[in-house]
Amino acid sequence: MTRMTRPMPPALPGRYFTDPQIYGRELKTVWRSTWQWVGRSEDLPNPGDYLSCTLGEEPVFVIRTTGGELRAMHNVCPHRGARLLPEARGNCQKLQCPYHAWTFNTEGRLLAVLQPGWFPELDKANIRLSPARVDTWGGFIFINPDPEGESLAAYLAGFPEYLSDWPHRLEDLREVNRAAYEEPINWKFVVENYVEDYHFSIAHNGSLVPLFDVQSIRTRPTGRHVPILVPYAKQPPADPVLRREWEAGGISYQGFVFPNMMVNTSPDSISVWRVVPLGPERTRLETITYQTPHQYALSPYVQESWAQVMEEDFAVCRLLQLGVNSRAYQVGELAVEHELGVAHFHKVMADYL
Ligand code: FES
Ligand SMILES: [Fe+2]
Repeated sequence: MTRMTRPMPPALPGRYFTDPQIYGRELKTVWRSTWQWVGRSEDLPNPGDYLSCTLGEEPVFVIRTTGGELRAMHNVCPHRGARLLPEARGNCQKLQCPYHAWTFNTEGRLLAVLQPGWFPELDKANIRLSPARVDTWGGFIFINPDPEGESLAAYLAGFPEYLSDWPHRLEDLREVNRAAYEEPINWKFVVENYVEDYHFSIAHNGSLVPLFDVQSIRTRPTGRHVPILVPYAKQPPADPVLRREWEAGGISYQGFVFPNMMVNTSPDSISVWRVVPLGPERTRLETITYQTPHQYALSPYVQESWAQVMEEDFAVCRLLQLGVNSRAYQVGELAVEHELGVAHFHKVMADYL
C-alpha cells in the first residue's frame, strides 16, 4: 500500500549548515547525549582491547575489561584532563595517562599515581574515569557519552526489528572492506541526501538505477530514525558487478540511525557508514562492509561500485553547500514519499536545536 503523506515543511534555515555557533550547539545537544555507533564487538575480542574515538567533541573509548565485558568511559584523565588513549584501536592491561602517569585499570579505577607522597589527601579508592554508556545491537557497539537517559533498545525505536527482515545474523558479520572520505560538506547535508531517493534517477542514473525499482522505494520513519525499503529492479542489471548486488523480488534494507549510522543491505553483504562531523563545513564518512562466513563462502567480497556512487552523492552535496550561504537559499516543496526522510530529519534536528 502506498502512503502518500505530504511532508511537513522543513525547519532548518540555511545558516544551520555553515554557522559555527549552530555547529557548537549541535555538539552540545546531539553529539553529547545520543547513542552513536562506533564499531563491532568482534573488534574487541580480548581483555584490554579498546577502541577510542571522538563523538562530536567528546573523546570516549570502549574497552573489554579483565572480566570480559564492554565498558565505555570518557577518554579524559581525572587529574588535569589530558586525553588518555590515542584515537585508535589497541590493547592495554592498564591505562596510563601520558601527562603525569596516573594509572587506571580496565574498569577505570585509579591504581597508582606518580609520587604518591606528594598527594597526602588523595582518596584513591574514589577516583575513577568518568563513565559513558555502552550497549550493543547485533554486534554493533554504541556509546552514549551521557551516563543517564533512555536505553539503547528504546532509543533505536524499532530499527533493529526492521532490519531483522534481512535474513542473516548480524552477530555473525565480519569486516571485509573499509574506506573513508572527507568532504567540505556539513554533516546534515550528507544525511539529508542519504534519506531521500528523489535524486536517484539523475545522480545515480548509471549506477544505482539499473539495480533498484526507484518508483517503489518507501521511507518509514521511526523514532529519530529513517528506515528506507528499496526493492530491487524487476529485471536483473546487465552489469555483472551490479548483478551480484541484485536479488529477484528482494529488498535492500537501508536506513539512517540518528545521528551517525547508515545501513545498506545487499544479498551477500551489508555496508554500514559512519558519519563523523569535523566542523561546520567538514564531514568524514567511513564505510565498512561486512559479510557473514556463510555469505563469504558463497560469494567472497569483491570491490563494489560504491566509490562511484559515493562520488555521485558527494558531488550533489557539494552543490548544496555552495548554495546554502546565498540570500536566495530556500527549501521549497518536497516530493511526497521520496523526500519524506528530509522532512523527518529536519524535524528531529529542530527539536534538538
Ligand atoms: S593529566 Fe593525567 S596524570 Fe595528570
Ligand atoms: Fe545518493
